Amino acid sequence: MKTVLVTGGMGFIGSHTVIALNENGYDVVIADNLVNSKREVLNRLETITGKRFKFYNVDCCDKEALSVVFEENEIDSVIHFAGLKAVGESVQIPLEYYSNNINSMLTVIELMREHNVKKLVFSSSATVYGMSEDVPFTEESPLGMCTNPYGWTKWMIEQMLRDIAHADPEMKVVLLRYFNPVGAHESGLIGEDPQGIPNNLFPYISKVAVGTLKCLTIHGDDYDTPDGTCLRDYIHVCDLADGHVKALQFIDKTEAGVNVFNLGTGKGTSVKEAVAAFEKACGHAIPHVIGPRRPGDLPVCYASTEKAEKLLGFKATRNIEDMCSSCWNWQEKNPNGLQD
Ligand code: NAD
Ligand code: UFG
Repeated sequence: MKTVLVTGGMGFIGSHTVIALNENGYDVVIADNLVNSKREVLNRLETITGKRFKFYNVDCCDKEALSVVFEENEIDSVIHFAGLKAVGESVQIPLEYYSNNINSMLTVIELMREHNVKKLVFSSSATVYGMSEDVPFTEESPLGMCTNPYGWTKWMIEQMLRDIAHADPEMKVVLLRYFNPVGAHESGLIGEDPQGIPNNLFPYISKVAVGTLKCLTIHGDDYDTPDGTCLRDYIHVCDLADGHVKALQFIDKTEAGVNVFNLGTGKGTSVKEAVAAFEKACGHAIPHVIGPRRPGDLPVCYASTEKAEKLLGFKATRNIEDMCSSCWNWQEKNPNGLQD
């Protein structure tokens, strides 16, 4: 059984990926400092899978602490989710974002080199395509022109990994550029659990639906789109999790080097369509008003999925209704998120 180190495995995407890895016969070790997740996730994962995963409460920037994980386990590959991800916050505290996101990646990769671990999957983001309006984004679309420090950390790490892999003839790296991950595990036991007032659409709608927040503001309805609101490529987090399994399977049969894949559905959904789908899922209206545009928002953003389909054999299977119903199931069962 191959052992995968999942950094950030207690978080939203990481925890769903742990389940997918387990279902596909991988042994999982989690390293997470719980800066944006709860220890309770481990219990929930145990309820879902019947397995208690090996968990290290470590900061991935702390080389000494993280080296224990590599010493105590025969790590075959690493999926690196650990990082800070709030776009707005990254503008307020850029130093913390650069420091955490870049240093955690560098520390992980140094330890991989020291322990002869040659396979890495990195959580990148469609945000590396910057402000281009040339949709759909293919993996060859121009990069850069990011609108915030968070986006630049992804862009910089991608470049670092290309350079490092170039210099090591055995290194195999897959960069996964996620579009908009939403939804939750069908059990309703784990899901997205943001602290404070959410910035992203689905967590915000969920909080309005459950009554914690009063009203959603739609950020602009005067875009050049069919209903005037922005289009995004929402992808169910369980599909995204499966994409990571496909990425590891791909790494095992590919040559050394860096490969990049978009993970999306290839379909754009407007904010108004998302609200309507959520209303259907929860069975009542979501109070909303139209506000001004949010600075930095692209009118339209969706993926070309051709490359992932062809080379990874990855195709998202869940639709917007599945995303809304699973998100609502999680929110309704855990109106205040997880408590430790
Ligand atoms: P999340 O915050 O739920 O999960 C990240 C996890 O990493 C958390 O459990 C957090 O405690 C942990 N972490 C952060 N810094 C750490 C450190 N230095 N050491 C150890 N653990 C640390 O976020 P998520 O939505 O699951 O995102 C996972 C990854 O995917 C992130 O790298 C994020 O940037 C990327 N991503 C997310 C989205 C999205 O919309 N959710 C989109 C594109 C890319
Ligand atoms: N929106 C609202 N009201 C809200 C929140 C969002 O109308 O309260 C709208 C936004 O204006 C946008 C759409 O809903 O049109 C989606 O917004 P999100 O914040 O959910 O998602 P983004 O596409 O802005 O951001 C996501 C990830 C980022 C990533 C970015 C680019 O959250 O991490 O995609 O890949 F950087």
